[in-house]
Amino acid sequence: MVCPLLYAATVWAMVVISLSPLLANAHMCTDDFLNKAEKLNITTNCNRCSLGAEFAWKFDNGSRQLDVAMGARLESPTAWLAWGLNPDGPHMAGTRSLMGVKHQAGLAARKFNITDATKRRCQLRPSDDIGLNITNFSFFYVHDFMYYIIHATIILPDTYNASRANVVWQIGEAAVAADKPRMHPTSLDHLDASQTINLITGELLSFNPTQRTRMRTAHGVLNMVGWGIFLPIGAIVARYLRCHPKKVAWWGAFHIGCQSMGYLLGSIGWAIGLWLGQASEHYTFTTHRILAIMIFTFTTIQMTALRLKPKRADEYRTYWNMYHHFLGYSLIVVAAVNIFQGINIIERGPHHHWRWSYVGVLGLMGAVASSLEVYSWLKFRNNRKAAKKLKNLKRSQSSATILHQPHLPPNPLLN
Ligand code: HEM
Ligand code: HEM
Repeated sequence: MVCPLLYAATVWAMVVISLSPLLANAHMCTDDFLNKAEKLNITTNCNRCSLGAEFAWKFDNGSRQLDVAMGARLESPTAWLAWGLNPDGPHMAGTRSLMGVKHQAGLAARKFNITDATKRRCQLRPSDDIGLNITNFSFFYVHDFMYYIIHATIILPDTYNASRANVVWQIGEAAVAADKPRMHPTSLDHLDASQTINLITGELLSFNPTQRTRMRTAHGVLNMVGWGIFLPIGAIVARYLRCHPKKVAWWGAFHIGCQSMGYLLGSIGWAIGLWLGQASEHYTFTTHRILAIMIFTFTTIQMTALRLKPKRADEYRTYWNMYHHFLGYSLIVVAAVNIFQGINIIERGPHHHWRWSYVGVLGLMGAVASSLEVYSWLKFRNNRKAAKKLKNLKRSQSSATILHQPHLPPNPLLN
């Protein structure tokens, strides 16, 4: 019975994966951007980045001259595009940044030192000296393919390792004025806006974005199928096929099989989640993480039932049952909440494949569980009514027998 279920779950998982637009992750730049970069004499390297940005560069190791062009669409009426280098690591705080601002009065090019204070959401202030020798810095709009482009030439200081350069970029959706860019959104693609590259060979040294997307997809699918499908199905079987409304012999084996499979898949997904969290150490999804740790801890405790469950005759078996059921139902709710948390992290765009797939599965399981619940209550009520009727019938029959008992002659032995 577990096998067809596992098969169905895998098929469902494959459907989600194939529907996921996140997997379409090409790293080649568009022809339009490549042509423009060529006109700027930047022909050596080009990378597609998150946020729909494209980054082209040319580096001469002898003179340490770095020519860069970063382009992206800026949809909002006021917005900004930033590109920078961070000598400390692939993250925001510490970045020496060049920013193009699209504000109400036109376009402006500014330089910023991004510090820890920026991460604490303090207002950014432009700075003339960001510790880099910069020439040809400009920000312009290309009408043909509606791109805003930052272009600059930098002489890379010796303190920057050209074979391990930390490149950071970002797009903000509002700017009050040229000198007042507003904080950018913090969805996953905005947080993924950094990488470490070898400027000389063009090699990407940090976590490959395609692999990261695949790992996230695997994490989501395993967690959803493990905690979000197997655990509730196992609970439904234990509730409705153990005794009421129907008693089936295999419910115990099925329940253990489902919960063990859910625990196994969920734990693998959980471990991948921890690993992903570790790989993106500059940001954390606190609620998702705390709920995840709770789920793993308490399901592990539930799994100890395999060995530690008291025997039927044990006096505290009733209390153990109460605790096992309470924890089990609570875990199903917490897992569903965390699955939606995960979906919120991964799915900020207009497509909601994850959300609707899981809502569909939840709806189906909810419909099955509530029909069985109603059915068991109806059956219970009818049984009770029938039992009451039978009792009344027996009572009336016995009183009728007493009433119609014939008078017996006195027993001489008793006198
Ligand atoms: C306009 C002012 C800015 C503010 C107030 C700001 C604020 C923040 C905050 C609060 C976070 C952490 C979000 C979280 O952990 O949930 C963050 C992350 C990030 N920001 Fe900014 N930011 C600003 C500008 C920039 C600029 C100009 C860049 C790029 C050059 C940038 C790149 C990043 C990146 C890559 C992250 C991901 C986490 C990390 O690497 O630390 N930000 N930002
Ligand atoms: C109950 C089920 C789930 C558990 C136990 C779980 C567990 C975790 C854990 C432990 C992390 C690391 C958090 C951190 O260190 O910041 C994480 C991150 C994440 N989870 Fe989940 N997760 C679950 C469901 C989901 C689902 C269904 C999705 C998506 C559909 C998802 C998407 C993500 C993403 C995108 C991250 C961030 C990865 C990164 O930092 O690169 N999770 N999850």
